[in-house]
Amino acid sequence: MNINLLGPPGAGKGTQAKRLEERYGLVQLSTGDMLRALVASGSELGLEAKRIMDAGQLMSDDLMVEMISARIGEPDCAKGFILDGFPRTTPQAEALDKMLEEKGLQLDAVIEIAVDDEALVERITGRYSCARCGAGYHDEFQRPKVDGVCDSCGGSDFKRRADDNEETVRSRLKAYHAQTAPILPHYRDKGVLSSVDGMADIDEVTRQLESVLDGG
Ligand code: AP5
Ligand code: MG
Repeated sequence: MNINLLGPPGAGKGTQAKRLEERYGLVQLSTGDMLRALVASGSELGLEAKRIMDAGQLMSDDLMVEMISARIGEPDCAKGFILDGFPRTTPQAEALDKMLEEKGLQLDAVIEIAVDDEALVERITGRYSCARCGAGYHDEFQRPKVDGVCDSCGGSDFKRRADDNEETVRSRLKAYHAQTAPILPHYRDKGVLSSVDGMADIDEVTRQLESVLDGG
């Protein structure tokens, strides 16, 4: 099963993708995570990626298509994947269609996680993650069971993303509405688009996603 999770910054794509990975044995393909790894490599391209991400803008379609095409071709993706953060523009959606057709693959579900803009700034500015294993948390909505200790690995070092400040979030939201939301009709026309209520709490959103994926 191959899935695409669509939604604005902070909608819960990453949080839910991690849960669906476990539940359905799929691989999460987050272009944001891939770009953050590129930034951490310190390469020339990584520096360019950092500049663009910190400004809340989008990387070039060509680079993102190349990145995803290479990743989908890796053996672990044969068990099925969850696209998180790609496609993000109409050219990316069209390139994905072509790429999947060439590889004899298809998207079984495209699910929009719908959230009001006002909720997103609060979600993003309160987000942090474990520096060791990457598990995601929120100051208010998703605290670890023991303060300062990661539930997943026991680590005590946490980090916040450089683009998780209010000013950048507003630019990212603008980019979402101008460049990404217009791809929703592309999937609606194909009859594969569903929507879940991303304003609900994290467990309820998972239930709604499972209901879509289990055909309920
Ligand atoms: P990316 O990393 O994809 O960021 P994003 O799309 O802005 O989404 P986020 O990761 O911020 O949010 P999320 O939906 O994953 O939410 P999360 O689950 O963490 O991209 C970063 C940048 O890379 C882009 O701006 C762009 O520059 C570049 N880029 C990436 N892909 C690209 C592409 N294809 N083309 C061009 N450029 C690209 O949840 C957020 C917080 O809320 C967490 O703390 C969580 O605990 C909490 N939370 C989650 N769900 C709920 C809930 N239901 N209720 C309450 N709190 C919740
Ligand atoms: Mg994410």
